[in-house]
Amino acid sequence: MKTAQDVLAERFQTEPPTSNKHLIRWVEKMADLCRPESIHWVDGSKVEYDAICDRLVATGTFVRLNKKQWPGCFYARSVPSDVARVEDRTFICSLSRDSAGPTNNWEDPFVMRRRLKQLFRGCMQGRTMYVLPFSMGPVGSPMSAIGVQLTDSAYVVAQMRTMARIGAPVFAEIDKDEKRVVPCMHSVGMPLRPGQTDVPWPCNETKYIVHFPETREIWSYGSGYGGNALLSKKCFALRIASNIARDEGWMAEHMLILGVESPEGEKTYVAAAFPSACGKTNFAMLIPPKAMQGWKVWTVGDDIAWIRPDARGRLRAINPEAGFFGVAPGTGEKTNPVAMATLAHNSIFTNVALTRDGGVWWEGMTEKPPAECLDWRGERWTPEIGKQTGRTAAHPNGRFTAPASQCPTIDPDWESPDGVPISAIIFGGRRSTTLPLVYQAFNWSSGVYIGATMGSETTAAASGAVGQVRRDPMAMLPFCGYHMGDYFRHWIKMQRELEVTPRIFHVNWFRKDDEGKFIWPGYGENMRILRWIVDRVHGRTQGRETPIGWVPHYDDIDWSGIEFSRTTFNGLLEIDRIAWKKEVISHEELFINLHDHLPPEMIYERELLICRL
Ligand code: GTP
Ligand code: SPV
Ligand code: MN
Repeated sequence: MKTAQDVLAERFQTEPPTSNKHLIRWVEKMADLCRPESIHWVDGSKVEYDAICDRLVATGTFVRLNKKQWPGCFYARSVPSDVARVEDRTFICSLSRDSAGPTNNWEDPFVMRRRLKQLFRGCMQGRTMYVLPFSMGPVGSPMSAIGVQLTDSAYVVAQMRTMARIGAPVFAEIDKDEKRVVPCMHSVGMPLRPGQTDVPWPCNETKYIVHFPETREIWSYGSGYGGNALLSKKCFALRIASNIARDEGWMAEHMLILGVESPEGEKTYVAAAFPSACGKTNFAMLIPPKAMQGWKVWTVGDDIAWIRPDARGRLRAINPEAGFFGVAPGTGEKTNPVAMATLAHNSIFTNVALTRDGGVWWEGMTEKPPAECLDWRGERWTPEIGKQTGRTAAHPNGRFTAPASQCPTIDPDWESPDGVPISAIIFGGRRSTTLPLVYQAFNWSSGVYIGATMGSETTAAASGAVGQVRRDPMAMLPFCGYHMGDYFRHWIKMQRELEVTPRIFHVNWFRKDDEGKFIWPGYGENMRILRWIVDRVHGRTQGRETPIGWVPHYDDIDWSGIEFSRTTFNGLLEIDRIAWKKEVISHEELFINLHDHLPPEMIYERELLICRL
């Protein structure tokens, strides 16, 4: 029988499975720079995947989970310094500093190229360089785009097989030579000397996540984690794609996409932008309360949407990804049974706890923690130790990687090459005060203002302080690959392409009471608000006008199966004028920085809001 290593060896240094000369020349050039021991052209097959996983088990990167309970699943632990996106090490290297704008780190592209060349010189010694072609969106769809990631991380290759469409069909698509390929360089930055044994999580203290928007290139160094290393995701599908989208008249957004089906079978698709770790995955997989009989939510995507107007002037969206890279803590049978079913097999878990019977656990997965486990650092953890040290078993940004095709609520049209029609756009943040449970913008431009001035308390998805309100326009602060003011202009401009304008809403599931408890039950109960949104889209319900927008009356909400007091509800919708005046002043904080690129509509909207308050 062939061993895993035989299977891999057969693919080393083989003929490139592509005839694309540019691609081959680029791979040669990069191999020359990085000096890998071997080159592996990724075909994306199951055999190859199994061999790569075996190799990861052998190096200690992966632990194979208990096959009975977690079939096809693996467990990984990063080093404690490589657990989240590194926004302060993320750069947009446009030719002029002004094109990147004040919200991005900028460096002169020539200076940065020189620095990267130095860093990448010989950086893959002793390792395999994988050539990993990927399609964002269904292979061959007119809304899709292609990238090729060169990486020395087998862990990244394994993850990417779930997160994107990869391998042979993508090489075939590249060979048609119709589409431009975005080159993505990635190294963990830890070359191996001859005879040096590898570590389970190679990485480097020096990290660079670099984007060249004009030449549409990505260079990532030093990290093996999530958005830093899976370059298809935030680097390509948001930072580079936002540049392409602006030039070509479409939108690349940090949004989930879901379809709401009414008891009568009417289908309404909405897209929603919430910042990292603010509820996109949960909302995309929502299960309506039992009492709301006949209502269903279908999942199209949980993190990124590529949206463009069709010939009839309607916005249509695709999910460019093929898997979910979801926050594990807080995901359980009660909060998100759909995610639990999705991740039950063929999934990879990173930085959660490993149980004694070869399973995984994280805070919120079950009410009762395991009596004993190894925490995300690999140290013994018991509920008692947790209590004493304040340490959680899973890292708050611990994640699961699961195929979208395994999701029980996946929409029948989730891979439709033309996408799904979008009737509403929802913005939302994590705000313990001031922002009501839901409100609707008066029109597109006031909606763009709401998105542009969105605030949210920071989370563990990025390294840095947690819980501080920051302005995070359209949930794109860390992901917009150009000047934020120009991005707002692009949003305003998009409406001119439309015959049917989606309605815009803002939600906040996270308002807290005086004791610091969430007032709104959230999760599945969010269906009640989603139903109101759908009813508004179809003109079925009136709404009450407030200075900031339209809100529901208590009696407009479907309360079947729940006792929720009128007083509490009204509290959640209260617009405190004094707090809102402060809020508007804090909008200024961002606008001052962007002033010379800000579309005039934003100034008008601000003036109107102040007058209404
Ligand atoms: P990224 O993958 O980082 O972009 O995150 P996301 O926006 O997909 O967030 P996700 O759905 O994974 O939720 C993040 C955290 O918020 C989890 O711990 C959830 O349990 C919690 N959460 C999600 N929805 C709700 C809600 O309606 N109410 C409350 N209180 N918490 C929620
Ligand atoms: C986010 O931070 O918004 C994520 C996780 O979706 S990561 O892929 O690491 O960016
Ligand atoms: Mn995200």
